[in-house]
Amino acid sequence: MGEKFTPSLHWSQLLWNSRGLVRNPIPYHHKWFETYGDTLRFRFINGTEVYLTRDPEFALHILKKNHKNYYKSDVTSENLGHYIGKGLLTLNGGEWKKDRRLLQPGFYKERIQKVFNEAIPKAVTSGLDDIPLGQQVDVKPYMNRLAFEVVTKALFDIEVAPERLEEIRHIIDAVQEHFVKEVREPQWNFWRYLIGQKRLALAQVSRMRAIMQELIQERQQSKLVHDDLLDLMLQSTYEDGSYMEADRVIDELIILIVAGHETTANALCYMFYELARNPNFMYAVRAELTEIGAASPYHQLGQMTYGKALVQETLRYYPPAWIIDRKALEADTVAGETLAPNSFVAISIYELHRNPTYWEQPERFDPERFLKPPPPVYIPFGAGPRMCIGNHFALFEMLEVLRQLAVNYQLKVPNKEPEQLGKITLQARTMLLELNKRNE
Ligand code: HEM
Repeated sequence: MGEKFTPSLHWSQLLWNSRGLVRNPIPYHHKWFETYGDTLRFRFINGTEVYLTRDPEFALHILKKNHKNYYKSDVTSENLGHYIGKGLLTLNGGEWKKDRRLLQPGFYKERIQKVFNEAIPKAVTSGLDDIPLGQQVDVKPYMNRLAFEVVTKALFDIEVAPERLEEIRHIIDAVQEHFVKEVREPQWNFWRYLIGQKRLALAQVSRMRAIMQELIQERQQSKLVHDDLLDLMLQSTYEDGSYMEADRVIDELIILIVAGHETTANALCYMFYELARNPNFMYAVRAELTEIGAASPYHQLGQMTYGKALVQETLRYYPPAWIIDRKALEADTVAGETLAPNSFVAISIYELHRNPTYWEQPERFDPERFLKPPPPVYIPFGAGPRMCIGNHFALFEMLEVLRQLAVNYQLKVPNKEPEQLGKITLQARTMLLELNKRNE
């Protein structure tokens, strides 16, 4: 083993800090990177070699250059897969490729364009309308509901009754909480098993699957052609002529809904926060919209250069998928270092996006930096073949929320900084803000 990445941490340091690491590992990672360099190496207690990186060369080697040698880690494909099922996010190899090929057309431009002119503006309007005005409210649950409705209506044309929606949201939250503890504090897993926490999480997952099954049945009974992702899953065939199995349809549905709304909702919360803190950002968006003039929403969104820069800066500064992981299948040489088979690699998108070697004043939130091409360390949606399937969808969704917010609302300067949580996604514990209608 070369000594480029000298062992930086001992597993006992992880154990010692485990409580803080469960709550939010981000400040620990930052401190370690500042102390030991852009790639850290250590061993888990079971002997697995671990790399944690914020080095773009290292990250892009794993995600793009030699991606064939790297699968989603067992933490994602098995532990997380145990809860959210086998789908695009958790599958590997040939199985992943088959599903990606089948689902990709659901995200083609023509299809997205249609929903961005009709279903999405409607869902965004009603999501924003739900937020109580003239008082401080935690906008997080509202953003969650809004993003959930956008995904279910736009991608699946599904009407979900409010109480079912609440139930699903509650389950996703509870299971995420449980999963994060399981991964970050494995020493307590046996205890959690004994006191029934694991059983409860699995029961919640079964309940969510049952709800999804009901939604699929309702759609199948309607006999209407929807020409959406669910039709694609139910009616398209793989290259060998076979159909997607019923269980897989539920898994993919859950994964697309979970991956497609939680991330966006958290980014929207932070976008609201920055807009509230800096009224000039909102003025710039409004000026841009006036210049663009009347057009269909999709056309307007396509021309929002400043708006897009603001969304991009939000995803740089607060990347919802803040860390991603892989495992090496075979030995490999990365940035002069030999990685053993089975090495676990964690790529901190959060730290890549704030690495001072590549970003000028990385701790400053500044949309204007995206008015020119960003450095190649900007990967809020990942990179390579496993890049987010919903990346354009998410960008346009955030732009549509920004468009409606700028036209119809104003935000009051917040009086509190939100507390950051680094769970599977990066999120604020609560996001207290006050909205008012414009000119009221
Ligand atoms: C701001 C919003 C979003 C962010 C920041 C985000 C980020 C990411 C990232 C970083 C990955 C790659 C994970 C890895 O390489 O391990 C990913 C994958 C994925 N995302 Fe997103 N995502 C967002 C929105 C969405 C939306 C709207 C959908 C669907 C409607 C979606 C569905 C997926 C799926 C299915 C995958 C797995 C893709 C594959 O491996 O083939 N995401 N996302």
